Parts: sequence; C-alpha cells; structure tokens
Amino acid sequence: MSQQWWHSATVYQIYPRSFQDSNGDGMGDIPGIISRLDYLCKLGISIIWLCPVYASPMADNGYDISDYCAIAPEFGSMEDMQALIKAAKARGIHIIMDLVLNHTSDQHEWFQQSRSSKQNPYRDFYIWRQPDEQGQPPQFNPTSYFGGSMWTLDEQTGEYYFHQFASAQPDLNWRHPDVQQAMHKIINWWLQQGIAGFRLDVVDLIGKDIDAGILANGPHLHKLLQNMNQQCFAPQQAITVGEVWSATPETAKLMTRPERGELSMLFQFEHILQLHHPEHGKWRARPFNLIAFKQQLERWQQQIGNGWIAQFWGNHDLPRAVSTFGHEGDYREPSAKALAMIQFALKGTPYIYQGEEIGMTNVQFEHIDDYRDIETLNHYHEKRSQGWAEEDIMTGIFRHGRDNARTPMQWSASAHAGFSKAEPWIGLNDNFQQINVGQALVEPDSILYCYQQLIALRKTWPVLVYGEFFMLLPDDPQLLVFKRHLAEEAALVVVNLSAEPAAFSYNGHGEQVVGNYGNRQQISGHYQPYEAVIFDLGD
Ligand code: NOJ
Repeated sequence: MSQQWWHSATVYQIYPRSFQDSNGDGMGDIPGIISRLDYLCKLGISIIWLCPVYASPMADNGYDISDYCAIAPEFGSMEDMQALIKAAKARGIHIIMDLVLNHTSDQHEWFQQSRSSKQNPYRDFYIWRQPDEQGQPPQFNPTSYFGGSMWTLDEQTGEYYFHQFASAQPDLNWRHPDVQQAMHKIINWWLQQGIAGFRLDVVDLIGKDIDAGILANGPHLHKLLQNMNQQCFAPQQAITVGEVWSATPETAKLMTRPERGELSMLFQFEHILQLHHPEHGKWRARPFNLIAFKQQLERWQQQIGNGWIAQFWGNHDLPRAVSTFGHEGDYREPSAKALAMIQFALKGTPYIYQGEEIGMTNVQFEHIDDYRDIETLNHYHEKRSQGWAEEDIMTGIFRHGRDNARTPMQWSASAHAGFSKAEPWIGLNDNFQQINVGQALVEPDSILYCYQQLIALRKTWPVLVYGEFFMLLPDDPQLLVFKRHLAEEAALVVVNLSAEPAAFSYNGHGEQVVGNYGNRQQISGHYQPYEAVIFDLGD
C-alpha cells in the first residue's frame, strides 16, 4: 500500500478549554497551548488535533460555530492562532483543526438570515418544513442526540427547522450548492493559514436524506466528500480524519481508500458502542467484554485493506480510557501502559487524548450543578422528570458523561493543578496531586515515558504500522494476543487485560521491546495483572 508520513505519526488531541490557561480567567486558551508545545515536542507527537476554537456562543463548547473565520475571544485572537501555527511548525508539529460541517450555531449569520423570512436567500442553507395540520413537526421525528425533538418551531416564519443536536445547532442543508461552496471557501481559507488539515465532526451525517428518513451514511455522502476533496483537500495535500459513528469496515473503505479521493482516515466507534446499552445507550453502560472486543478488532484490522483508520481509546466525548478499558485503582499504571501498547501496535494512526499520557481518570462530582456538559445536563433533567432515580442517573454520568474527559489537564501538584491561576471553569479531578505531568516527568518508568517510547518506536519499526495482523487466542477471556508480520519481520503483542494473573504458552523466542513489568526473558509463562509486552520475533 502507498505509505504516508502520517501513518507512523502520532496525533495529540487538545480540548482548548481544559488544556492550559494563560490569562488567569480559569479557561484554557491558545497562548496556553503555545506555552506547552515544548512538552508535546518532548513527548514526540507530530500532529495536534485542536478542538474548536472558532467564535461560538458555546452552547456545546464550540461545536456550535457562529463564525468559522474568527477565534472565540475566550481562546485568544487570530494573531494567537497564527502564532500557534507558526510555533508548532517550528517544532515540526502540524495542526489539524476541528471542522463542524453538519451544523452551525443558531447565532451564525447564515441562520440569522435564514430564519428571518421564507424569501431570504439563505433560507435554504438550513432545513425547514411546514407544520402538519395539527401544527406538529414532520412525521420523521427522531430524538435528538441531546434529547428532545430534532425539529424546533421558529415563531417568526411559523416553520420547523431541523437539528440533530441542540436546538442551538441547526443542521445545514448540504444539498444546497451554495452551502457546499461556502464551506469549501472556509476550508481553503484555513488551509492557506498554514494548518495541515481537519478532523471532520460527525461527517457521516452530512449526506442525509431527511425525507427518506436517512441520517447517517446517507446517499449524498460520498459525492460531497469527493467534491470537497477535489476542491480543497487534494490540492493542498490536507490530512483529514472523519468522525464516523456509523462506520463499518466496508463503509470505512469507501471513505478512506486513497484512490477514491475522500478522506485520509476515520474514527470508528465499534469498541465504544459495544459498551452501550441497546436501549439506553451509554447511560446504562455494559462492562467491557474482551472477547467481543477481540472479534471487532480482528475484523477491522483484517478488512480495512488499503483504507486507513485512527486508533484511539478516548476523546473529549468519551470517559477516560484507563477508567473504561483498564483499571483505575491498583493497576492504573500498568493498565494505562497496556492500553497504549495495544494502540501503538495496531494498524491505524494513534491518537492520544490530553491527559491519557499520564493516566488521568474519570471524575465523580458531588452534585449535578458541578457538571457543565449540555448532553449530561439535558439527560439528567429529562430522566429526573421521567422518574429515574437520582442514583441511577448519576451512575451513568460517572461512567460515561463527557465531563470525565473535560476536567483540567493535571500539570502539577500545585494550586489548580498548574492549569490556571484562577478557579477553573469546571472542577478538577481531586487526584491531581498524585497524577500530574510534573510527577510523570521525574519518574523514569511513568506512563508518560511509555508513550514517549511507543511514539518513537512506531516511527522506526514499520512492522507495527504496516504488518499483517493475526489474532491469537480469540476466546481467551483475559489475554489479548496478536502478531504483526511484515516481510521477514514479526512482532508479538501479549497483554493480560485483567486484574488476575494469566498463563500464556508460546512455542518460540522473542526479545522484549517494550513492557510494563521490567524485562521479560521468556514469552511463555505467567503474566501479571495488566502485564503487556511487545516482542520482536526477529526474522
Ligand atoms: C461530535 C463532537 O465530538 C461533540 O463534542 C459534539 O457535541 C457533536 N459532534 C456535535 O457537534
């Protein structure tokens, strides 16, 4: 397959509000990010995925954009953004921005125009439908991702507009050529500012056909992506990563095989969806099932062909990786390293979510008022009004609420974890005195240095990047074991993903390349709880 530099590179995701505050207002900002670039450089990452910093009323922390070509004042100015691009470039780090294509803020000029009258030239930038005879919204009326209907009546013109997320996030009408052109212009403008590409928010939703009741992976998706690629991405060699909750290996190949000219890679969510309850989704989560995980992992690794995916455990919408897939108690350190070793030994570009590299954990705030996330708050109030017990709701929020990932980055054991001089916009996780970057930097075998080692290893050992994948022991309930083969070379990854010791026997020799329990001489033998080793099987 044709090789790209970003196949062996590592991406680091920054959630700007919670990364580093520079001006003492309790909220992270762009100058704060600049001040931490040397840290990221030391870690060895090549790309930053920057969550939205555009002008926004912040109903959904920036995923509701009111001006795509302006920076939200709480994050800084356009000059700050330019300085960030430049300072990152000077350290060999590329920036990909988060591009929200499916919807805008209801405060965006386009929507303001659109809602003002049925004759306005921007009317069809959004999706409007007349009420039925009883004044009700159209029959196709699923529940929005943040609760309530996907239709909101706008008094001014007496019609309903469509929104898959909050009512403050109206969906754009991608069937309108002017919407496509306007977005292409914005994309090209940003690429000219020197960024390397985009993470495309819920991109599988833009090809929808509402009247046919199709939202995800709709009939217009591929054509729209191909046009965008021709008009914007290809000419400027942009890197793109789509957020695609509906992805299967088949649809992922359609979106990422290079000859189709759509996206560079995508995030697929099967390992996350596997944790969700069939009816209540993430709010009544199911425990991690290793055997089911292995089945889907094998399928993706073997079937992706010359398409490409992102490898990740967490992001700003998901609970903390170590709390979900590892062990946040006694085995926090080995399990966080084990997760990293799995991630870095798979086909697909690894993405680290801020704080993952020090093993940050989920948080449990005492009171619902301590939470900030629109999805969490809407869910809480909706379920309370439906009679769910407080405790049940909070259990779901503790395990899967998005604020788990949004507590401030834990830089040090000093006041506000070194994140800010002021009270942060959201509470800290109170374990910051034990878990922080300062501490990780002085411990030679910290989780942080394990990531550093893996980031470097992937750049120099192509078997981890391109090797063929073979799953061993698919039915073992504790061990995750797989091999990668490339030409004459082979790597073997053995991970005990449980809190009990496990026995493994293997007929052959290998040399340990990375491990989380000291140096292992033999492949066969007992593996400690969450012990993980990457072996070089030689040629
Ligand atoms: C996915 C983003 O990651 C999430 O944070 C956001 O709320 C929705 N898309 C809507 O833009």
